[in-house]
Amino acid sequence: MELLVRWGESFESFVGGIASAPTANTLMLFRFIIFLMTVLFIAGTGLQFGSLLLSVLFDLSDHFKRDDNHAGFAERLAGVAGGTIALPVIFGLLPLMTIALCYSRVYYGGTALLPAFFLAAAVFCAVAGILARLFCKTVPLRGVRYRSHIAYGIAALMLYLGMYHIYAAGAVLALTPEKWPFVTTSPHQTFLSWNTIFRFKELVVFAVLFAAVTLRIGYFAWPEGEMAKASEEERRFAGFVLGWWGFVFNLAYPAILLLYLINLPPGSIRREMFTVLVATLLLLHPLVMYSFATGRRCVAKRPVASFILVFLVLLLGVTNQTLAESRANVDRLSLLRLEAGEAEKERETVREAKAEEGKKIDGKEVFQRVCSACHKFDARLVGPPLAERIPKYKGKQEELEKFLANPVKKDPAYPPMPKPAVTPDERKAVAEYLLETLAK
Ligand code: HEC
Repeated sequence: MELLVRWGESFESFVGGIASAPTANTLMLFRFIIFLMTVLFIAGTGLQFGSLLLSVLFDLSDHFKRDDNHAGFAERLAGVAGGTIALPVIFGLLPLMTIALCYSRVYYGGTALLPAFFLAAAVFCAVAGILARLFCKTVPLRGVRYRSHIAYGIAALMLYLGMYHIYAAGAVLALTPEKWPFVTTSPHQTFLSWNTIFRFKELVVFAVLFAAVTLRIGYFAWPEGEMAKASEEERRFAGFVLGWWGFVFNLAYPAILLLYLINLPPGSIRREMFTVLVATLLLLHPLVMYSFATGRRCVAKRPVASFILVFLVLLLGVTNQTLAESRANVDRLSLLRLEAGEAEKERETVREAKAEEGKKIDGKEVFQRVCSACHKFDARLVGPPLAERIPKYKGKQEELEKFLANPVKKDPAYPPMPKPAVTPDERKAVAEYLLETLAK
């Protein structure tokens, strides 16, 4: 964790070196870029993660009980997940790096923790991409080296999960600025917070759902898609599995979203978010039903239109998230302003105190100017020798001040003391001086 923070700090100073603090306009631009990149990230890695998950499951099932349909389906999905190195780079690494860069500018001068989270997610994504590719490449060797083949797949899945969790932790950090001072000292708290865990679940469910729907009505429907290589029976099987898969996750998604909304920090919830949520669900549900219903043989009627619709739904989902995030950013900004204002006030008080000190009244000077006309320390003048009278005021400066403000008759051997011409501050200073010198 410490390494993570240090790493983020050096990244931040690197970025800080090549650019100056962002203006309101660049902030807007960054927010827009972060938004687009998040869509790209969830869609791209979702497709990869989902197809890898299904591929590993059917690969395992074929291993324990031979089934050509399962084996063929697993092989084609492995092709989707690890077929090309460009996929994880374009859909995973690129968005994450860009988000990290943007955040390091948005929070320019703030903590380096946020970009560090997204950079760490990028590293996980890169390694997961390599493992997914190894999994895909070792498909022909399944007969001889099954263990290493399946280990690649499972390790890649774990890394994808790790990546989502780190991403969620970063998003939570962005969402709950009030945690920042606390989190900078112990980042693991964000990691284990319920909020992060809900976000992580939400991301995974959305990723799997997206993969199901996209594969079902997009990828497999194009004439030259992976499924074109499959037999008629395999196509029917794929259509059936993906359809049900999408259907089940479509039911799980609203529940997760709701849990997520409930767990948001109060400041980030807005009415628009619920509107967007309802719109997302209204669109998503019929879409998945449509994809489930269209052609058991896995030939969607309007693949391109459907695919665009899926993307639209995704966009709505992420809008939801971004609304919350921008709200949190506003909070964060006002929090920063508040902190800055408080710090300024504190400095002001210190400055005032210093100024006070500068013109601090000298008690000795007051005594000599006012009181020495009637008092000496050790001899009787008009008034009594103060060395005799002051010790009884030890620890009772207030009482002494009260007497000086309004002298009352004390000793019949003396005339009453007239009210001395001193300001309250001078009174205080002289009392302090006398107690210090005569009542040690
Ligand atoms: C005009 C003369 C006069 C001046 C000026 C004067 N005093 Fe006195 N002070 C007296 C007299 C007379 C008494 C005795 C009063 C009594 O015992 O009732 C006295 C009594 C006191 C006592 C004893 C009170 C007690 O509880 O026994 C203190 C302490 C004292 N003065 C402090 C001061 C200080 C400090 C100043 C300067 C801010 C001051 N005085 C200015 C005449 C004066």
